[in-house]
Amino acid sequence: MTRPMTQPMTQGTTVAIDKIVPGWSAPNRERARWLLERYPQRRSALMPLLYLAQLEHGHLTDEAQRQVAELTGLTAAQVLAVSSFYTMYKRDHVGRYLISVCTSISCYLLGGDDVLEAVEIQAGAHDGETSPDGLFTVEHVECLGACGGAPAVQVNYEMIEGVRPEKARGLCDWLRTASPQVVFGDEMQALFGGQRSFDWGPSETEGAIAPVPAFGPYGSVGGSS
Ligand code: FES
Repeated sequence: MTRPMTQPMTQGTTVAIDKIVPGWSAPNRERARWLLERYPQRRSALMPLLYLAQLEHGHLTDEAQRQVAELTGLTAAQVLAVSSFYTMYKRDHVGRYLISVCTSISCYLLGGDDVLEAVEIQAGAHDGETSPDGLFTVEHVECLGACGGAPAVQVNYEMIEGVRPEKARGLCDWLRTASPQVVFGDEMQALFGGQRSFDWGPSETEGAIAPVPAFGPYGSVGGSS
């Protein structure tokens, strides 16, 4: 059967959310309902719903993607095409602290690979892996848009610039011992950063996001509640 190019307008309230995602927490079911009601085409809610599903499951499980397909009226293949394209959708378990090290050209030229190696050793996880204690996930990433402050590192998407290997080791130790509930870029920059590309403006007061991202409006700040 040929799928129509555009689906008829479907109000979120007509989607049987409680039947499709009965195991989701009540707040996340409400967020899903709210998201679907914001778009005339429910498939337009695909990306925020994927973030929400990721938040609910801890990462994007096959089951989570099937649920999002059902919520949006898309096929599993269409959902997978999107979730596998964007790197902030995580298909595997993510540790409490996601450490992303930029190894693109500016950072590479200023020692980004050495920073990555220092993080891997100190965190106890290779690139793309999670440490056995579940504390760290390490990944190399493409340009973070902070080339003037290379090498750049992010922890749970909070930026630190001008990081050197010895500071990277200190960062891992600090995360392990201080165990902050929410990480703040400004704090980590002061403790472990160096040259900054420019003043990024007012500080975040609540921290940006958790290691499994679903932005503040969807209720991810500080965890998965
Ligand atoms: S190359 Fe690393 S932030 Fe641009």
